[in-house]
Amino acid sequence: MAKKLQLELGKNSYEIHIEKGLLGDLASRLRKLCKTNKIFIITDSVVDDLYGDIVLYRLLKEGFTPRRCVVAPGERSKSLEQAEKIYSAMADFNMTRDSLLLTLGGGVIGDLGGFVAATYMRGVPLVQIPTTLLAQVDSSVGGKVAVNLQYGKNLVGLFYQPSAVFIDPLVLNTLSDKNFNNGMAEVIKYGCIKDEGVLSILEKLHGREQIMGRIEEIIFLCCCIKREFVERDERDNGERMLLNFGHTLGHAIESLSCYGYSHGESVAMGMQVITELGEDVGITEPGTSGRLKKLLSSFDLPCQCPAINGEDLCEAIRRDKKNRGGELNLVLLRRAGKACLHKTSVNFFDRLAKCA
Ligand SMILES: NC(=O)c1ccc[n+]([C@@H]2O[C@H](COP(=O)([O-])OP(=O)(O)OC[C@H]3O[C@@H](n4cnc5c(N)ncnc54)[C@H](O)[C@@H]3O)[C@@H](O)[C@H]2O)c1
Ligand SMILES: [Zn+2]
Repeated sequence: MAKKLQLELGKNSYEIHIEKGLLGDLASRLRKLCKTNKIFIITDSVVDDLYGDIVLYRLLKEGFTPRRCVVAPGERSKSLEQAEKIYSAMADFNMTRDSLLLTLGGGVIGDLGGFVAATYMRGVPLVQIPTTLLAQVDSSVGGKVAVNLQYGKNLVGLFYQPSAVFIDPLVLNTLSDKNFNNGMAEVIKYGCIKDEGVLSILEKLHGREQIMGRIEEIIFLCCCIKREFVERDERDNGERMLLNFGHTLGHAIESLSCYGYSHGESVAMGMQVITELGEDVGITEPGTSGRLKKLLSSFDLPCQCPAINGEDLCEAIRRDKKNRGGELNLVLLRRAGKACLHKTSVNFFDRLAKCA
């Protein structure tokens, strides 16, 4: 069943549409949003091979003048150098502030394209078409856009809300299992922090095929949870922090493994380890970590503390840009479906040395 939700952010409000097969009907939906015929599409070569032609064809058929810009897949494309090349291509296309920028791809394309849309001519209209599960439930919602520096990820960025987000879950069929499961880590995160019902749904479904049978509902529930946090805290100063459940440790694991573990895998380990620690210190209801472990394992997500030295982990957590001045706002679970902020210091992780 098609779903729609509205993000209420004053003049930055917009709709998120979720519907299987939506891509086929994209052009007519864009007609309602677009003041001119010019549409600049940013995508990566993998997504372009799969969906580029069909999107371009439909836009042409609807009378638009599209131009596509294809970048290499992967995190390295989220760079200022890449952004500069895109600015030039947009100028060459004579883009004005009425023209539309369309992102067609995963979180890399969404973040890069969003960054370019926010900065070109001080902002052009943006429509996001996320094509990975991670992008559909997480990165396309909330308006964070950024590029990386060699010093770290997402160091140059801003908040820039799109005019609309169009989610077609059918494009997930071409996603590798690894990328699918990567997104499932974030889905599980939402269930953990806010909606135990999401976890119950996942526990009843077996395998990717059954998940795809209820994918519209699952994506909708995740987007609703993210919407709630974003609406209350658009610029990420307070409550939105709960969305970082598993991410303090996750980011540290990701960078210490030199990105050998994917984001989803790292967050899965982060969520599991922090939930076990939460139980140890008496904040998390006993049994929660066991339930989480079962669910993560069913998506082939790792949940053992990786063989990384505990001291190194603490050092990486200290370096994280989110952890100012030695004080940590750690997200713990009270129980499945309810998270809380726990003010502590990096020393909280000293007990991790035991599993190094
Ligand atoms: N802005 C935010 O709030 C936010 C939140 C979370 C993550 N992120 C960012 O998102 C990025 C990760 O996103 P990602 O996991 O989507 O990675 P990604 O964009 O690199 O996509 C992963 C791979 O899947 C391929 N792909 C995309 N759609 C496909 C499809 N339908 N079928 C087959 N292959 C497909 C891509 O070509 C790529 O090789 C990171 O840069 C991260 O920082 C941003
Ligand atoms: Zn994440």
